[in-house]
Amino acid sequence: MRKKISLIGAGQIGGTLAHLIALKGLADIVLFDVAEGIAKGKALDIAQSSPVSGFNMNIIGTNSYEDTKNSDVIIITAGVPRKPGMTRDDLLGINLKIIKQVADGIRNTSPNAFVICITNPLDVIVMALQKYSGFPKNKVVGMAGILDSSRFIYFLSQELNVPVQKIKSFVLGGHGDSMVAMLNSTTVNGKNIHELVKEGKIKKKTLDEIVNRTKNGGAEIVKYLEKGSAFYAPAASGVEMAESYIKDQKKQLPCAAYLNGEYDTKGLYAGVPVIIGASGVEKVIQMDLSDEEKVNFQKSIRSVQDLLEAAKKIDNSLN
Ligand code: APR
Repeated sequence: MRKKISLIGAGQIGGTLAHLIALKGLADIVLFDVAEGIAKGKALDIAQSSPVSGFNMNIIGTNSYEDTKNSDVIIITAGVPRKPGMTRDDLLGINLKIIKQVADGIRNTSPNAFVICITNPLDVIVMALQKYSGFPKNKVVGMAGILDSSRFIYFLSQELNVPVQKIKSFVLGGHGDSMVAMLNSTTVNGKNIHELVKEGKIKKKTLDEIVNRTKNGGAEIVKYLEKGSAFYAPAASGVEMAESYIKDQKKQLPCAAYLNGEYDTKGLYAGVPVIIGASGVEKVIQMDLSDEEKVNFQKSIRSVQDLLEAAKKIDNSLN
């Protein structure tokens, strides 16, 4: 049977998600937005590309949750993006309110959906979404790590002149300035990045700069765009998660997942490698971290905790 994906938020990321999902033939698509015209207009535009692009998925735009009923996957981008100079955390108050409305909208209409959240500040918004909706924790997950890892791999490939496919790496922790690039698990053509530093193939300083550029990868794009934030790479990352769930690919992907003791963290969402298959988040993969990585990961967790405290002050139902 054809699968159904609903996209809550038909803005820059939502529209790109719809297009990518259609091109992949992954599922029928419902584009939902409070701004009905945007959802309808984008759905029609993408549908009209189907004869040229050769897909035949149904795609509609709506502002009624009824139309999203019984979705297999829901991807949420409803919210406000950053303006130049803003951090993701600055979006907390406004996006918390929006995510509460979304949770109310999907709770009864698609109780069995796998829900991927993209709205920032990611780790706290996905946690709030899980609480507001009451959906099982393994069915609510945040998109960030794939994007951060993808940015890191791209920058490394440019520096080393190596195809992106030959580089493996992970960026974990919170989706903010404290995210942690896992250098011990970063390999280029199978060789650890530390070896390449020793061999003089890349300077330690250059590597540090790339790590920093990755942390600021979103802000760099916000600055260029002036209006809005990144959307192509975030959408591509969200689609990879949806595909792994729908096709039961059981891919290992870095995502914001609920931690219940893993990585010495309990009761919090943060970026870790997980297996995504037909049951949702099927497993949190426990990686061996170096002492430095452990310290940095915990630092990142603390900044997520701090933001969660701020969220609880805004809405004490999150306590
Ligand atoms: N319900 C549904 N949609 C909503 C709601 C709501 N309550 N409130 C706002 N929206 C819609 C807006 O109408 C807009 O079309 O969400 C859409 C957001 O789209 P953009 O402003 O283009 O933002 P986008 O770049 O897609 O990013 C969305 O993802 O990465 C994060 O930081 C980013 O939080 C931001 C989110």
